[in-house]
Amino acid sequence: MEFIFGFPIWELKKTDKFNRKKIEQEIYKAKEEDTEKKDEGIRSTRGGYQSDLSFPPSKFKETLKYICGQLEGPDGLRFPHSIEAAWVNINQEGNYNMPHNHGNFDGFAGVLFVTDAPGLHILNPSVGALYCDIKKSPEGNAGEIILFPKSLLHWVEPSKSEKDRITFAFNVHVPDLYKAKLEAFAASNEKSDSK
Ligand SMILES: [Fe+2]
Repeated sequence: MEFIFGFPIWELKKTDKFNRKKIEQEIYKAKEEDTEKKDEGIRSTRGGYQSDLSFPPSKFKETLKYICGQLEGPDGLRFPHSIEAAWVNINQEGNYNMPHNHGNFDGFAGVLFVTDAPGLHILNPSVGALYCDIKKSPEGNAGEIILFPKSLLHWVEPSKSEKDRITFAFNVHVPDLYKAKLEAFAASNEKSDSK
């Protein structure tokens, strides 16, 4: 966990528990079974497939097992939390996601990069101030997870890959955000002390 432009952001590395094949299988199966027509106007995706937020967890057992293992792991979240919504993004070449946020800062937005999925940019809300980083752009390597405050504006640039670019997005509910910020601050200090 690091504070990036004043906000706690977690970048969790891939572990050997990441079973990309199984995760991809359940994602494609869920997509196949999803026959409901999507209204692009209320979604961030442009051209890609985005499932509903209320997809039943039973369809994503392997995916959620990996994510929860990471969130509960040594570099994960040290405060009470739960996953409150989750959805799949499958982009083909040229598909992208419009700038958006996931609401107020009452929890965290998370992304599991299922395939190598470059293109995510998170805007610094202080953009325009002198000498500040404009944005955070994770590499998006398969198996990695990023968590950032729900309120931060972010977007995904058009995919340049001929293969599907797949991410699994989720929102993390935090009942006591004040405690969460303190814990994040403590974790960040421990990390800088150990350098
Ligand atoms: Fe998003």
